[in-house]
Amino acid sequence: MPSIKDYLFDTAFLNQSIDYLTETLKLAITVIDSEGNLVAGCRNEVINAPVSRAFPFRFPANIGALVCGAPNQQLLDRAEPHILYCLASLNSQLLRETELKETTEEMLQLSSQINFLFKVAKKILGIEDLAKCYQIILDEISLMIKADQGFIQTKGRWDERVCVTRQMTEAEVDSLGNSLCLQDTANGTTIICTREDGASLLYSPIKEKIGQSGQMVFIRALNHRPFSASEKKLVGIIENIVSPTFETLRLYDSLQDLYLNTVKALAAAIDAKDEYTHGHSFRVAKYSMTIGEQLGLDNQQLNDLEIAGYMHDLGKIGISELILGKPGKLTHEEYSLIQKHPVFTDKILQPIQLPRHILEGAIQHHERMDGSGYPSGLIGAEISKFGRIIAVADVFDALTSKRPYREAMPVEEALQTLCEGIDTLFDREMIIAFISSLRSDRQNEVLDEINLGLRHNDLQNLNQFLIKLVDFTIASAHAGS
Ligand SMILES: [Fe+2]
Repeated sequence: MPSIKDYLFDTAFLNQSIDYLTETLKLAITVIDSEGNLVAGCRNEVINAPVSRAFPFRFPANIGALVCGAPNQQLLDRAEPHILYCLASLNSQLLRETELKETTEEMLQLSSQINFLFKVAKKILGIEDLAKCYQIILDEISLMIKADQGFIQTKGRWDERVCVTRQMTEAEVDSLGNSLCLQDTANGTTIICTREDGASLLYSPIKEKIGQSGQMVFIRALNHRPFSASEKKLVGIIENIVSPTFETLRLYDSLQDLYLNTVKALAAAIDAKDEYTHGHSFRVAKYSMTIGEQLGLDNQQLNDLEIAGYMHDLGKIGISELILGKPGKLTHEEYSLIQKHPVFTDKILQPIQLPRHILEGAIQHHERMDGSGYPSGLIGAEISKFGRIIAVADVFDALTSKRPYREAMPVEEALQTLCEGIDTLFDREMIIAFISSLRSDRQNEVLDEINLGLRHNDLQNLNQFLIKLVDFTIASAHAGS
């Protein structure tokens, strides 16, 4: 039980006080802990004394008292100023030693935090796999605070959910998310709470510039002591330091650049299979981004759209060049095989676990608004936004490129053809966005890869044409609604 001896580094003054009060004032003195157990002095003499009184030590917690016994009340009253003097000196020693202990603890804690952060930084240096970095951080914190289980749940580079666990399954993480004790943690501070089964939980939010991006949760099993205030403080400090690290790791560009370059290399490999579609994937990515910008997509969405554009024909890698570049009419079997390329794209990309919208954009670019497309025959809004954008970009590039069986179409004619498929084949919104982008001062930039002779005979004519086309598409939308 807590006693004064637990809080005194030096007990010499306590012993001197007992001697002084015993020998000089002829008192029976004993020191007891918070539950009345003997800590120092002679208990029996106090118990046998005719009068006695307890003087508690002044301290935030109950750490016991000095109990004085005397042959009579008069002697005890006379001794009281001396007792109070000894007690005041002991109390001030307690205060000084407590402050010193706290400062020492804080310094030790700071030193261990610095050591911890150096250790973690050294371990994650050079690791580009985000989940591995999170796992190291989770394991190191768990070891430091002696947590039995834990998890870190936050965002990955694509804002997808990333969850790393220690001694627990993802299903347990999900059920813990529904735990009542964690449902009141929206205030964004580190807290200790008790789970329904009595286990101690230490919850800490991961705060980035954009707001809270996730959380770290540590669990100490029922048969172990609950987390302490100092452990909570420690995790709070670590969170303050590791949250920007999470953000840096998440936004770290190198991996994304490496990834984008890999995707571009793949796109170049597909385009190279067919001399007639040379540069097709790059142009589709560019036209898609042009539409996306016109629609007001943010930078992250535009980057994702660009990747989906590069990947949209990835599945053609599994189709023979002889079929892809066949000058004459395709047989039924050959056409069926070509129609399978979005399914091949899906198969190739599945293991990469790309964000859903990128994958959908890549595999839905041959779906059509009226359900006549392939591979799934999706209708209208069942087709993802990226799918509807890439469909327009893909057909525009196909029409304005030379094919083994036909010459390339001029821009006006290609746009006219697209407009004929409004609402039946293509999403009106995407066509209007594309035409509007061509009316802007970015026209030359957007169309710079199209053979000049095919673009238009006269720039002014094209602009006049585009104005009429937009008016037409908007007017027909009004008529249809
Ligand atoms: Fe395609």
